[in-house]
Amino acid sequence: MECQKIKVANPIVEMDGDEMTRVIWKSIKHKLIFPFVELDIKYFDLGLPNRDATDDQVTVESAQATLKYNVAIKCATITPDEARVKEFNLKRMWKSPNGTIRNILNGTVFREPIICKNIPKLVPGWTKPICIGRHAFGDQYRATDAVIQGPGKLKLVFVPEGHDEKTELEVFNFSGAGGVALSMYNTDEWVYAVYGCSEELHHYQLLKSMKINGNPSLRLPGYWYEHRLIDDMVAYALKSEGGYVWACKNYDGDVQSDFLAQGFGSLGLMTSVLVCPDGKTIEAEAAHGTVTRHYRVHQKGGETSTNSIASIFAWSQGLAHRAKLDGNTRLLDFTEKLEAACIGTVESGKMTKDLALLIHGSKVARAQYLNTEEFIDAVAKELRARLSTKAKL
Ligand SMILES: NC(=O)c1ccc[n+]([C@@H]2O[C@H](COP(=O)([O-])OP(=O)(O)OC[C@H]3O[C@@H](n4cnc5c(N)ncnc54)[C@H](O)[C@@H]3O)[C@@H](O)[C@H]2O)c1
Repeated sequence: MECQKIKVANPIVEMDGDEMTRVIWKSIKHKLIFPFVELDIKYFDLGLPNRDATDDQVTVESAQATLKYNVAIKCATITPDEARVKEFNLKRMWKSPNGTIRNILNGTVFREPIICKNIPKLVPGWTKPICIGRHAFGDQYRATDAVIQGPGKLKLVFVPEGHDEKTELEVFNFSGAGGVALSMYNTDEWVYAVYGCSEELHHYQLLKSMKINGNPSLRLPGYWYEHRLIDDMVAYALKSEGGYVWACKNYDGDVQSDFLAQGFGSLGLMTSVLVCPDGKTIEAEAAHGTVTRHYRVHQKGGETSTNSIASIFAWSQGLAHRAKLDGNTRLLDFTEKLEAACIGTVESGKMTKDLALLIHGSKVARAQYLNTEEFIDAVAKELRARLSTKAKL
């Protein structure tokens, strides 16, 4: 007999997405969330066809709704490039939805691996999670670049508002055939956000200690800080056992989170949470993309084995935040059991191919892994067992 569904007092914002992750998203909702939780969902379809149909307004509206309701749970979405513009016959090459959302929400992105005991790590010394904190504004992502066609001077000019005299810096004197140039910027607000993303960390109390790739400006009780340059920090991270938050600049954070995901096992085991400076608003998602390679197989009716764990954790982390804001202990308990069910399923030997490959190597047999739906069904079975057991498993 199904137990009474958990009632949730306030809404959550759901951002639907694209391709293989859209397929698993639907199953997650119908097999792991809706049977157990009664939710008021503010739904936004961020799938590329709808972004195109709404001139990307749906992305802006979903971010505004997130500011209103404080919790968003997002499926992975395509960032269009020229090939996608052709494939979907788009009106324009719409910007990255994540970029648009981050610009509206502000805040710091925290990426953290999910650890399963039986999944061998490429870096075996990493016995505790390393969480990457990354401010999400400026730097390479907002750079202006140019191809320099021939000899001449490259200059950087700043024109102060309300003054006539400008600052002109000579960057390089090109001779011969020219080259390439790039101009990058950031604002004090964002630089301090990464140096002391403590405010957001305070609300993201996952770990007890942290290292900062930057100059610490705030100190919180129970935390310790250390400033290291990126090259030193990469070397340190490789040797460390984990157990800290690594605060990075925008681009460093992007690069290092993939390095961590691979080191810990799989992209399918990496979560991503955008924490806003108000300490109240978050957006949770998987760190990986729409898994296009699997979607092409799925489109042709082939069997896929896509890891849904990071997408399930987007739901559990978003709902856990809702639970904390609302003081909903039943919902919080459910999210803990949902996460434990994912890890428990893998640790009992049931997993998708990406993880089975790490255990059995490239000669992995079909009997050693589950397909996409079989894995979600196995998690649902484990979740039901955990929810119906009074004693803590
Ligand atoms: N946050 C986001 O919404 C986000 C992030 C990255 C990429 N994207 C988009 O996703 C699309 C595909 O990009 P990509 O292929 O570079 O990145 P991807 O993360 O989808 O895949 C990269 C590689 O990792 C594997 N992989 C990733 N997640 C997996 C999972 N859950 N289970 C099993 N294997 C997994 C894939 O098979 C692939 O080989 C692009 O259109 C891109 O714009 C979106």
